[in-house]
Amino acid sequence: MKEDHIRKKVREGYAKIAEGKDCCCGSAASTCEEDISKNIGYSEEELASVPEGADLGLGCGNPVALASLKEGETVLDLGSGAGLDCFLAANKVGQKGRVIGVDMTPEMIDKYKELKFSVNI
Ligand SMILES: C[S@@+](CC[C@H](N)C(=O)[O-])C[C@H]1O[C@@H](n2cnc3c(N)ncnc32)[C@H](O)[C@@H]1O
Repeated sequence: MKEDHIRKKVREGYAKIAEGKDCCCGSAASTCEEDISKNIGYSEEELASVPEGADLGLGCGNPVALASLKEGETVLDLGSGAGLDCFLAANKVGQKGRVIGVDMTPEMIDKYKELKFSVNI
């Protein structure tokens, strides 16, 4: 399989998730959000602190919990999806810090923008 073809397939898979047409890893739609995230280390408090819809149940751990972020730091999130970890990191680094999310799936970026403007960050 050529690299471009693989990238296209990965993008298509994540686009469906961003648009709410699919869940990660074959989960049933009803369990694709908080259940997965709680099971891999996100607290209820953290999940309640992000805009509704940011948690797509795509994580494989809670990197912000492990990063010991401090106010004013800059965070780069590669593969940021709808921004779950960006929103959590923003809470840690505060107004003096900066969080940069990068994602190759346009639908994920659209979802992030929609959420960001919904909470006016
Ligand atoms: C497993 S999801 C994680 C999303 C987010 N961190 C979360 O926990 O909700 C992986 C994300 O990485 C993006 N991605 C995968 N490969 C990438 C690459 N080479 N460059 C940029 N983004 C990539 C996908 O589009 C997808 O949104």
